[in-house]
Amino acid sequence: MRLRLQWKWMALFIFLLLLFFVIQGYLLYFLKKPFLLSSLLSLIILIPLVYFLTRSLTDPIWETAQRAIQLVSSIFSKEVQGNSKDELGSLSKAIGEIGNQLRNKIEEISKEKDYFQTILKGMTEGVLVVDGRGRISMANDALRNLLSLSSDVADKMPLEVIRNAELEAAIRKTIQDGKGMALEFTVPTPGLKTVEVNVVGILSSSQSVGKEGEGARGVIAVFHDITRLKELEKIRQDFVANVSHELRTPLTTIKGYAETLLEGALKEDVAFQFVQVINRHADRLTQIVEDLLTLSKIESKEFSLKPERLSISELIDGTLDVIKEEADKKGVSISWSESTPSLFIFGDRKGLEQVLINLLDNAIKYGREGGNIKISVNENPKAEIQVSVRDDGIGIPKEDLPRIFERFYRVDKGRSKELGGTGLGLSIVKHIVQAHGGRVWAESQIGEGSTFYFTLPKRSVS
Ligand SMILES: Nc1ncnc2c1ncn2[C@@H]1O[C@H](COP(=O)(O)OP(=O)(O)OP(=O)(O)O)[C@@H](O)[C@H]1O
Ligand SMILES: [Mg+2]
Repeated sequence: MRLRLQWKWMALFIFLLLLFFVIQGYLLYFLKKPFLLSSLLSLIILIPLVYFLTRSLTDPIWETAQRAIQLVSSIFSKEVQGNSKDELGSLSKAIGEIGNQLRNKIEEISKEKDYFQTILKGMTEGVLVVDGRGRISMANDALRNLLSLSSDVADKMPLEVIRNAELEAAIRKTIQDGKGMALEFTVPTPGLKTVEVNVVGILSSSQSVGKEGEGARGVIAVFHDITRLKELEKIRQDFVANVSHELRTPLTTIKGYAETLLEGALKEDVAFQFVQVINRHADRLTQIVEDLLTLSKIESKEFSLKPERLSISELIDGTLDVIKEEADKKGVSISWSESTPSLFIFGDRKGLEQVLINLLDNAIKYGREGGNIKISVNENPKAEIQVSVRDDGIGIPKEDLPRIFERFYRVDKGRSKELGGTGLGLSIVKHIVQAHGGRVWAESQIGEGSTFYFTLPKRSVS
């Protein structure tokens, strides 16, 4: 096209030169004008023609240049169309077409960016994007929340933001060799959190994953919060260890006494005492197994409550009858009050009786000799029935409070065992209350006593 354009200028120049000689010749030979005058007049005649002809060639160029500038500045809002039919018009059209394609491409990219941003926002996993220089280009909201990061993390080194050398090393290595890796570490955010991180290199489509010597353009690190998982794993391990331990003690005792009896003690006077010990430990074994069965029944999917309309006062009176003997033995008095008379709830009678018995049993066991236990029932502002059992006993240390609802957890192991406890009572309470859609918690002051609360939604079970 460049050649054709030059040719046009050349043709125009030759045409004008010939025209000049023709006019000059005409003036010189036919009109007999002097040479200088003929030349001057020819030039004057040609000037407007030169002007119009050159304009016809340069105007489309200007027009195209103008449109190109327009295209660059507002490429996405206007279509560029050439209106002349020559090659400059085609150029103009081509630029317009490029503009259209560019606009489509950019619309596509911005759509993809929107999708990407929405995915990042909706993800529960934390995402950290690091560029090829090892500086942060982006961190999503989930990561900020997970690690309590400030909002201005962009362009910082990962180590400045997440103080973990292992992570920094993994990111650096991935940028160098493009091979990703997984790691696990704890972060001291408010409350210790355990995170599992998958670090992957951002590779171009021509790069094969982890090919020797090929670095990555950047890194994406995906953070999974596995704190709860770790806690559950620990609880499960503790549970297995505890069950084995709890069962082993009475079993060893039973076996020891049985062997002594078999070895000849059967005929001696102590035999009766030995059998009593065996019986006591067998009872304890039975109790542990029964409690474990109750727990697993509540936790199983098949467990279903048998809800009925229950009068709270009837429920408490029924429980007090069961626990009376134990309370009397320790000289403990139990009183109870109801903020609104005749409160009713929907719940499983057996389950809720078990909750009250377990709480009262603890209040008596860990309460003072001749102490007082107070049961209060009221309706809280969340339209829940709230029941509390308060004793004036030994109390529970602050650090043990969050753990007492765990299976087999006992504050004072020796004392609890002495009192015949298995450490499963509160665990059963928690599960039954939660199955009703309620909550359970405790407050305590060492030496002053403890209060256990549980709530039941007024229409907890339909
Ligand atoms: N009212 C209370 N006062 C002081 N400590 C308590 C009270 N209730 C519970 N605890 C503590 O919490 C621990 C767990 O209680 P939980 O009822 O689960 O087990 P337990 O009473 O030892 O045995 P179980 O109830 O299975 O016979 C107890 O061992 C005790 O240390
Ligand atoms: Mg108990």
